[in-house]
Amino acid sequence: MKNKEPVILTEKLTKRFDSFTAVDEISFDVYRGEIFGFLGANGAGKTTAMRMLCGLSVPSSGRAAVAGLNVYKQTEQIKRNIGYMSQKFSLYEDLTVLENIRFFGGIYGLTDQQLKSKSGKLLHQLEIESEAKKLVGNLPLGWKQKLAFSIAILHEPKIVFLDEPTGGVDPVTRRQFWTLIYEAASRGITVFVTTHYMDEAEYCNRVSIMVDGQIKALGTPRELKAQLNETSMDGVFYQLARVAKRGE
Ligand SMILES: Nc1ncnc2c1ncn2[C@@H]1O[C@H](COP(=O)(O)OP(=O)(O)OP(=O)(O)O)[C@@H](O)[C@H]1O
Ligand SMILES: [Mg+2]
Repeated sequence: MKNKEPVILTEKLTKRFDSFTAVDEISFDVYRGEIFGFLGANGAGKTTAMRMLCGLSVPSSGRAAVAGLNVYKQTEQIKRNIGYMSQKFSLYEDLTVLENIRFFGGIYGLTDQQLKSKSGKLLHQLEIESEAKKLVGNLPLGWKQKLAFSIAILHEPKIVFLDEPTGGVDPVTRRQFWTLIYEAASRGITVFVTTHYMDEAEYCNRVSIMVDGQIKALGTPRELKAQLNETSMDGVFYQLARVAKRGE
């Protein structure tokens, strides 16, 4: 990393649902412009942790700061500084491409003038000018996901949280998606991303691996492979995640 300015700081961040601890005292930092991979098997606690960092869910204990703001107390300010692409919902299928851009841009507080110039650039970058008036529901999944990502960073947030953005997307489109991620990171946007694809884990600057709510490993893909004497991230993930006691 060029400069190690932390934009996410967590200290023993925890989320309990009754007696069940979904996120168990996780502590880590993420730096500006970094692409941080947040890995873990199904049910490990990734989405739960991400929701706390986005100010959408109140931590049970521990602390976290996102863009210098307290996730427990300053949730509204946090929302202005981040973009979030959720695992379940990204765009309105019954609105056109352009309507989605305008709708979300409006929520993010962009002016009409900004919206006009930004939507033109976005359509051009994604090479979907001809699709602008088509319903999002009729687009292929990979296009939808690229569009959702571009919309999540329309307001140039400090950090964008991506929860399994490429799930079910074909390999070529996943590559294109990662080109968009790199481009955003090069502009200084910090990218916090979950994925189940180990080739994508290799594209991250650093990755953490979560098992049963705890972070079991954190480092660059090269460091983790060396530590566990593996040649691929698949091997690293298998060694760590196979000890998981819970999951779906
Ligand atoms: N609102 C809730 N109430 C009770 N339990 C919950 C709640 N939300 C999540 N959990 C539980 O917490 C655990 C972690 O879930 P979470 O969705 O964070 O996992 P994940 O790592 O995102 O998994 P996936 O890869 O399947 O998306 C799971 O056992 C889940 O059932
Ligand atoms: Mg999840």
